[in-house]
Amino acid sequence: AYTATPFLPARGGLPALGKAAAACRGCPLHRDATQTVFGTGKATARVMLVGEQPGDQEDRQGTPFVGPAGHLLDRALADAGIDPAEAYLTNAVKHFKFTRAEPRKRRIHKAPTLREATACSPWLAAELKTVKPELLVVLGATAGKALLGSSFRVTRVRGTLLEEEIHGRPQRLVATVHPSAVLRSDDREAAYQGLVSDLKTAARALE
Ligand code: URA
Repeated sequence: AYTATPFLPARGGLPALGKAAAACRGCPLHRDATQTVFGTGKATARVMLVGEQPGDQEDRQGTPFVGPAGHLLDRALADAGIDPAEAYLTNAVKHFKFTRAEPRKRRIHKAPTLREATACSPWLAAELKTVKPELLVVLGATAGKALLGSSFRVTRVRGTLLEEEIHGRPQRLVATVHPSAVLRSDDREAAYQGLVSDLKTAARALE
């Protein structure tokens, strides 16, 4: 089976993890991606936000949430009153997966498979164990299924403070939609307000 496990360092904090993740060959996604996009933020961050996978811009720059979805997320965090300096940003899958309609054309995001997300999950588990955030914000279904299992449904649990066991540890969390889903929505303003409203629940949980 695909797995990142043999690539994990035996010791060290976030810098050691990030360095080891850069060399991960635990699934085939590293082949076409430019680089591993590991999480960013301080080890002392109070809140960890988990997205799906890096997009085109993130793949080029090597940093999560720096493209259009990231800009929308930044704005939503500000509107909800969550300090970005207190936030650790990462993804369930650390490599960009894409297809091209034609050779040399624009790279189109493709959802990771369950096998790929499962292979990558030791990295997210290690980030959680290292940062130990007071609160986890789950952005969308891929992150939710990776952390809580395949029965996870964003629409059913979004915007409520939950406590779930994750990798054997009780974890407070709030789930919401993925910022990319807001960008794709027919009613973008309503979808954005829904995201901000859920993030306000997260902000209150940090008070
Ligand atoms: N979407 C994600 O899930 N993560 C990113 O880093 C960028 C876009």
